[in-house]
Amino acid sequence: MRPQDPFIGRDILNGQFQILQKIGTGGMGAVYKALQPEMNRMVAVKILHPKLTNRKDLVSRFRREARAMSHLTHPNTVKVFLFGELPEDSSLYIVMEFLEGKNLNQTVRAEGPLPMDRALPVLISVCGALEEAHRAGIVHRDLKPENIFLSHQGGMRDYPKVLDFGLAKVTEREMRPGSLILTQEGMVFGTPEFMSPEQAQGKTLGPESDIYSLAVILYEVLTGKLPFEAKGAMEYLQLHVSGKPITLSERVPGKAFPPLLDRVMDRALAKKPEERFASAADFGAAMQAVLNGATELPASLAPAAPVPHPAAPAMAPAPASSSISTPLAPKTTSAVAILEGRAPARAKKRGSQILLLGSVAVGCLVFGAAAAIVLMKFFMQR
Ligand SMILES: Nc1ncnc2c1ncn2[C@@H]1O[C@H](COP(=O)(O)OP(=O)(O)OP(=O)(O)O)[C@@H](O)[C@H]1O
Ligand SMILES: [Mg+2]
Repeated sequence: MRPQDPFIGRDILNGQFQILQKIGTGGMGAVYKALQPEMNRMVAVKILHPKLTNRKDLVSRFRREARAMSHLTHPNTVKVFLFGELPEDSSLYIVMEFLEGKNLNQTVRAEGPLPMDRALPVLISVCGALEEAHRAGIVHRDLKPENIFLSHQGGMRDYPKVLDFGLAKVTEREMRPGSLILTQEGMVFGTPEFMSPEQAQGKTLGPESDIYSLAVILYEVLTGKLPFEAKGAMEYLQLHVSGKPITLSERVPGKAFPPLLDRVMDRALAKKPEERFASAADFGAAMQAVLNGATELPASLAPAAPVPHPAAPAMAPAPASSSISTPLAPKTTSAVAILEGRAPARAKKRGSQILLLGSVAVGCLVFGAAAAIVLMKFFMQR
């Protein structure tokens, strides 16, 4: 028998909320359904892993992020009511509106790929939520179908709500096993299947990274598959960095997708951030054009003229000395990568977290060693 979750049945915050049941568990903590008797309403309470509360700087970062999140007002962003530290055990919590329905992952697993005229309006709404956050300087960083909830609201079937804005940033430097003592750290945090090339390389992330992840979500929602065929987290990372996405029509033989959708997808999945749509709003407008049956994008969405990249280095997975720098996190360098992996082929409910310590660095070492051997052979033959 599994031990009972200690939060279930508990009153928290001086009896303001009664935790009723667990909704699910993710990489950062667990989400519970709770009753707020005073308001006679249900809420969702996300309680972060206690190990995330050990560091003062993390707690203050959490507060900053949660405060920023609570200022987002877009109707497609989940409403945050309250956040802080539980006085009982200092766990960080966020109280938000309780949503009825299913997340996008659960929806596609239960109903199969969604038709274009159901999928595109959902993703267009998500673009609206992202646009507001991006303008406020918040990059989501962990967009995946589990973080897009299709709620039943006001009698509407698919009312999308984006969850977990900015939370990835709070945890990216903390989600590491304590076995390795490293004074400097740089990490790759996210869900490999949905990571942008720059995220897979541990680079600084901007709004374009969310646009890429959203395109992977759109791809999966339409086809039930991902744009790359890979066996594991490392292979996904490699392919995001340097693989050519499989076209939608190749992915689902016998199903015709509008050619404009292929072009929109190609652009949103461009390897270079500057070659993607200039904003989430533009990506949304491009999807709207597809939905309207257009065959070309409006001139306002035309790609910018290509900028020559003199001696641009070929993209490679994060080198051992890769760095992440964010406005809140100091620039960091190291050989640590933390990845959160999905269950194989997404057959199971996500939630099992795979932490691959140093795997990107190890991958690079192997890659480097292989390259050295090839070069040595080449010179020896000469
Ligand atoms: N406000 C909410 N109302 C109802 N269900 C929610 C709410 N917030 C989250 N959930 C659901 O709770 C479950 C757990 O969410 P959680 O964010 O902990 O995990 P995750 O999204 O799978 O992974 P990650 O930790 O990377 O975000 C998910 O199925 C999610 O859709
Ligand atoms: Mg989540």
